[in-house]
Amino acid sequence: MKRLLGRDVNEQHRGRQTRDGIRIHETEDFAGMHKAGELAARILDAMAEHIHPGQTTGELDRIIEEMVNDAGAKSATIGYKGYRHASCISVNHVVCHGIPGSKLPKWKNDTHPRTDDTLKDGDILNIDVTVIVDGWYGDTSRMYVAGTPKPYAVRLMQVTHDSLMKGIEAVRPGNTFGDIGHAIQTYVEEQKMSVVRDFCGHGLGRVFHAPPNVLHYGRPGTGPVLEEGMFFTIEPMVNLGRPETKVLADEWTAVTRDKSLSAQFEHSIGVTADGAEIFTLSPAGRFHPTWG
Ligand code: MF3
Ligand code: CO
Ligand code: CO
Repeated sequence: MKRLLGRDVNEQHRGRQTRDGIRIHETEDFAGMHKAGELAARILDAMAEHIHPGQTTGELDRIIEEMVNDAGAKSATIGYKGYRHASCISVNHVVCHGIPGSKLPKWKNDTHPRTDDTLKDGDILNIDVTVIVDGWYGDTSRMYVAGTPKPYAVRLMQVTHDSLMKGIEAVRPGNTFGDIGHAIQTYVEEQKMSVVRDFCGHGLGRVFHAPPNVLHYGRPGTGPVLEEGMFFTIEPMVNLGRPETKVLADEWTAVTRDKSLSAQFEHSIGVTADGAEIFTLSPAGRFHPTWG
């Protein structure tokens, strides 16, 4: 996801762009996004069997990088703003941009400090992968569990997943980005959880992060109007506690300020004539795994 600061330079000038700087893609571009999205989703499918207590996030990232290379694709994150890994892996109260292989920060319910990047029983984690295939970007993330999750962690992951799907249901030409944010926010807050404001989804296509900022909260009817041919991510981060985040000294890892548990799911989608095409659907039907 994208911090609500700055924006990447959009160097592609093919086709049309709205007054908000949102690119309108051609019908044939959907195939390119589909291919990129499918690879990212297939990599996430394959990760499920590698996750267990005792596994390290460094090893998970190594497997991901190998899969990207074996597919003849490119990692979008290696070399991105100095980032050096093929994934972000965000454990427990890490909201996003967790660095694989780095020592896990201690969260509220840890009884002992963490000494390295080893997963423990009951940890929940988000794995976020972005690949480039034939110049198109596929960006997706989902949640996993090491061992047996706590019931409140399952609830959090379920609500986060469902909030993404409610956001996607609001996607159709004529609706607005505010409608998407509103659908996510109202659902999450009804469940007495909170939506992170400091990070958002983003346009993508032949670039990683393009306009608009896709907010996961908002008011109906506000923001740019959705048009067929827009490509963007929706990637709500939901906290069990308060929504505030802070970035650790490594300048990447974002955590909840109150050290409460956080979850995230992300799809890359395209606006069609009557709804949305999800580019990052799980080929194995595993986007929403069954827990515990
Ligand atoms: N994949 C993230 C997103 O959803 C971005 C990660 S950028 C990185 O937008 F440099 F942290 F990898
Ligand atoms: Co993203
Ligand atoms: Co992502």
